Amino acid sequence: MGTTTATASLRQTPAWQALEENAEALRETHLRDLFAADPERGERFSIEAEGLFLDYSKNRITEDTIRLLLQLAEERGVAERRDAMFAGEKINVTERRAVLHVALRAPKGEHIEVDGEDVVPEVHEVLDRMSEFAERIRSGAWQGHTGKRIRNVVNIGIGGSDLGPVMAYEALRYYSQRDLTFRFVSNVDGTDLAEATRDLDPEETLFIVASKTFTTLETLTNARSAREWLLATLDDEAAVAKHFVAVSTNEAEVSKFGIDTANMFGFWDWVGGRYSMDSAIGLSTMIAIGPDNFRRLLAGFHTLDEHFRTAPFERNLPVLMGLLTVWYADFFAAQTVAVLPYDQYLKRFPAYLQQLTMESNGKSVTLEGAHVDYETGPIFWGEPGTNGQHSFYQLIHQGTKLVPADFIGFSHTLNPIGDHHDLLMANVFAQTEALAFGKTPEEVRAEGTEEWLVPHRVFEGNRPSNTILADRLDPETLGKLVALYEHSVFVQGVIWNVNSFDQWGVELGKVLAKRIAGELEADSEPELTHDSSTNALLRRYRNTRRTS
Ligand code: F6P
Repeated sequence: MGTTTATASLRQTPAWQALEENAEALRETHLRDLFAADPERGERFSIEAEGLFLDYSKNRITEDTIRLLLQLAEERGVAERRDAMFAGEKINVTERRAVLHVALRAPKGEHIEVDGEDVVPEVHEVLDRMSEFAERIRSGAWQGHTGKRIRNVVNIGIGGSDLGPVMAYEALRYYSQRDLTFRFVSNVDGTDLAEATRDLDPEETLFIVASKTFTTLETLTNARSAREWLLATLDDEAAVAKHFVAVSTNEAEVSKFGIDTANMFGFWDWVGGRYSMDSAIGLSTMIAIGPDNFRRLLAGFHTLDEHFRTAPFERNLPVLMGLLTVWYADFFAAQTVAVLPYDQYLKRFPAYLQQLTMESNGKSVTLEGAHVDYETGPIFWGEPGTNGQHSFYQLIHQGTKLVPADFIGFSHTLNPIGDHHDLLMANVFAQTEALAFGKTPEEVRAEGTEEWLVPHRVFEGNRPSNTILADRLDPETLGKLVALYEHSVFVQGVIWNVNSFDQWGVELGKVLAKRIAGELEADSEPELTHDSSTNALLRRYRNTRRTS
């Protein structure tokens, strides 16, 4: 079977057309019937690789579906695109950049070239500098301007320069040095900075200004205000060098801001913001969990990278997960995917995945600039279980929308207290069972339910889910989980023929906000030339701000 060129319309490919027929045939088929027809289904549609177990049997698929989805992956050239990414080719065509987050976790001695230069030695140089710095903070060897040790670390960043660090800190908090306090400031709303710093002693506080470009309005505004907050107490410009470090690719802007570039940790334009938590952007993570644990995190990422690179597609976790996402988005009109981690430490994982998935695949033109005539990236959302069960699961169980869901659980808890963990995991298994099989009217009646109440108590079932199980939430496992979703997003992007690595959609709002900020700050009434709604809102804000 040949690989069709990416320009061939996706809908015209043989696999797509066969999948449409397959979906049609499955539309009325219930998971109850699929399980009844095949007692081995649970095992047949489960794989274990690199310590991650994926049960995808509770999906509305047959063996034919998987065969056709794999054929689609082949026709769309997923393997070729993957190899191009690993080889450092400039697959981010609209920004003319390589996409090499996999190089961030390549072990010493591996060889990955960008523009003819091996980037792995540089990666390890930065990691070594980060390790040295992290140890100095952790041990107290790095002193603040007045000689006190650092006790608080505040990461200032937004998007990929915030969500990865805060998610990883929360996820790996168990491994963190407990006499250090970590805070994360992202929103340009002054409340974020005010609340993050209100109980901190400036003499004991280190700010990490994390920004790939070092031009992001929110981050620079917060960093400037943080510097004022620091100097309001320390009253000496020289203090900045002891209390501010930067993580960026932009040395010139870092030094323009007033941070000594000796205190800067670099990375490269081939690391996308939302793919950067394992670059120097992870400095706060490394300070929290220590360099050894950070390297375990990288090792986990690398393990999954190698799996994605080498495992046959029918046993390739990110390939299967990516294809299933395409299946529901395009053949079942599912608008969303719920991510439901049954581990409190993963409470920011859904928020992290929102940027990873939606900034990557929220696109509507192909690499060639043509409008797509199929659905692309779904909305990702979620909350940790069991909290979600008592809030939005009602809609997943009985609503009119199809919401494919990923359940994530662990065999061991890091905090064994009584029978909490068994209860937690019982809920994972119960939910996926209830979603898939539901409860028939006959079953409801057999419970003695009055007839008028029966329709309300029926669960249709046939709601799809994946279950991902791992041994415990340790640094390696977190790395594997994140890489699993990174590569799943990649697979989806290749199928849809979109650029998963640019984010032009965030630009327009930024430009307009700059212009409007000028209009809000102007002393005299500015001439407003927006639409009538925006003009009126601006006038109202200017007036009410003045009078209240
Ligand atoms: O919101 C757009 C974006 O460019 C994200 O992709 C990025 O993660 C974020 O802004 C922050 O950018 P920077 O790290 O350059 O401050």
